[in-house]
Amino acid sequence: MQTITLTNQKGGVAKTTTAHILATGLHNRNYKILIVDLDPQCNLSYSCGIDMMKVEHTLYDVFKENIPAKKSIISIKTGFSIISGGLTLAGADMEFMQTGREYMLRETLKEVLDDYDYCIIDTPPTLGILTVNALTASQSIIIPMTADAYSIQGLSQLQGLIKNVRKYCNSELDIAGLLLTRYSDRTVISRDLKRYIEEAAERLETKLFQSTIREAVAVRESQLVVSDIFTESPKSKVAKDYNDFIDEFLKGR
Ligand SMILES: Nc1ncnc2c1ncn2[C@@H]1O[C@H](COP(=O)(O)OP(=O)(O)OP(=O)(O)O)[C@@H](O)[C@H]1O
Ligand SMILES: [Mg+2]
Repeated sequence: MQTITLTNQKGGVAKTTTAHILATGLHNRNYKILIVDLDPQCNLSYSCGIDMMKVEHTLYDVFKENIPAKKSIISIKTGFSIISGGLTLAGADMEFMQTGREYMLRETLKEVLDDYDYCIIDTPPTLGILTVNALTASQSIIIPMTADAYSIQGLSQLQGLIKNVRKYCNSELDIAGLLLTRYSDRTVISRDLKRYIEEAAERLETKLFQSTIREAVAVRESQLVVSDIFTESPKSKVAKDYNDFIDEFLKGR
């Protein structure tokens, strides 16, 4: 199983949207997929049609009570499953203080390594213990970002965290690339910012994916009906953007 984390402490840059569409696109290409929703906001779980009130065992329960990971896995369709972190994970930074707390997710996923081709992890917009767990459990990271100055500024904090995780928890961690989301190349400022982001990618010793994702109402429409763009708007330009990105990502594997 290849484990990939979508992360960026900046809010609203399409981490959850991209996690859901990437998981769906890989499932459509016949890979077996496990999604891990590490964000206490549970947006990804809702996007997958999960009613959190009815979830029997969340990832919080797995971490807290050592119940087997398999008991927390919810099957959405054949070969497409999810583990939800749950709202109670919101207190994780204060609650999990024990030695080895960075490895909770990595240990949990060991149980299912042979059951899936890809595990896609969505993270909250913070650099706390949940994100550290995601990075410790992953082979690679995708960093979704919007073309704005604050996104670029935030990258140095993320770079610091990645450096520490590589040093203390997971020396194998690779940055697959930065992905420009909600992007329009119509303005000069957007094109300038794209160049700055390419330079930032070089500093991180990674690349900016050539595929960029445009801002499109089809994305929000599909989320509103708890579906995905490949089902609701398969011919849309944004569905093509995401398919191109997934193909580019797979080529780099
Ligand atoms: N390509 C797009 N076109 C239009 N709207 C988009 C696109 N991508 C994401 N959005 C919208 O942007 C908002 C933020 O997206 P999303 O929740 O995926 O970001 P996030 O990084 O996961 O946010 P958070 O940091 O709060 O977890 C959502 O309302 C989503 O519908
Ligand atoms: Mg999110």
